[in-house]
Amino acid sequence: MATMITTPTVIPDAAVVFDAAVLRHQSNIPTEFVWPDHEKPGIYAAREFPVPVIDLAAFRSGDLAAVAETCKLVDEACRKHGFFLVVNHGVDYDLISDAIRDMDRFFDLPLSTKEKAARKLGEHCGYASSFTGRFSAKLPWKETLSFRYSDEKECSHIVEEYFQKTLGQDFADIGGVYQKYSNEMSKLALEIMELLAIGLGVNQKHFSEFFQENDSVMRLNYYPPCQTPELTLGTGPHCDPTSLTILHQDNVSGLQVFVDNEWRAVNPSLNAFVVNIGDTFMALSNGIYKSCMHRAVVNNMIPRKSIAFFLCPHKDKVVAPPPELVGSTQPRLYPDFKWPTLLEFTQLHYRSDTDTLLNFSGWLQQNQTPHATQA
Ligand code: OGA
Ligand code: NI
Repeated sequence: MATMITTPTVIPDAAVVFDAAVLRHQSNIPTEFVWPDHEKPGIYAAREFPVPVIDLAAFRSGDLAAVAETCKLVDEACRKHGFFLVVNHGVDYDLISDAIRDMDRFFDLPLSTKEKAARKLGEHCGYASSFTGRFSAKLPWKETLSFRYSDEKECSHIVEEYFQKTLGQDFADIGGVYQKYSNEMSKLALEIMELLAIGLGVNQKHFSEFFQENDSVMRLNYYPPCQTPELTLGTGPHCDPTSLTILHQDNVSGLQVFVDNEWRAVNPSLNAFVVNIGDTFMALSNGIYKSCMHRAVVNNMIPRKSIAFFLCPHKDKVVAPPPELVGSTQPRLYPDFKWPTLLEFTQLHYRSDTDTLLNFSGWLQQNQTPHATQA
């Protein structure tokens, strides 16, 4: 009946939770999830973005021409937008499918069980849904589980231990899968660092050595269906503050990048990882390689799952470009910093966007002066 007035769903404060089992069927989504007109995705599908495909087998072959060609493709992509796909990466496909499958085992749990792993405000690890954050508008339509990965020898079971400690012995096998998956991602990330170094014309091992003992983050993104996907976003527009992201999307599309003033779709491919440069690598390359804005849209049919590995330096490493990338025509763009300070800035003070690094630089200068004069 056209004249029937429906009451919009109001979620009382006491129950501010993202319960996907309920929300996925609602035709009037809570207003916190409705994005402003200039940001909502609308009803038109984004055009596909032709992301360059990098064949790692060619890079590994040692064939000089193949290596040069691969590095050139990566270099062009990173100077322009920082996104590329890697194929023939050597990560066992069974491991990838186990990692995707096990996401269901976690996200299908009752909310009260998932909350055993709840992330606390200001922290970056744990289970989170929109209402966990510090924002009350433009909420993303997703749930996530994030955990720490460390490449240090004494942390070789850190992921397994996390699952067992927070979710119990029943999750030991899932922890094992994500431990293996993270190990593979760390190895792959260091290899990609060599490609980036060659592209930038610095010592091939420069960045892979810098990221040894990396202290990284894994995030499982679970996007439930939404009855009005045109009004909301699964992940709002942002740049990754981390160094390099290796993302696996299942076979449901949703990832979009903002290139030449337009949102373009990066379609999934089960054999490929989507790799993108983050702000910290942009600083390491003195601004030559770009960290590009991206987002994820949702759909009204099937849940979408993605797994992101965010490479981050060891906490004591100073992020500064190698001298070859600084010169009279290329002055230093960003001050020295350590990763935990940028992380704190994006967790507590600033929602990541294209200007994160510039605002972070300003914030660093403001916050460092008083300490310097007090000393
Ligand atoms: C992210 C992200 C995109 C996706 O987690 O930072 O950009 O497709 N995810 O899930
Ligand atoms: Ni991202």
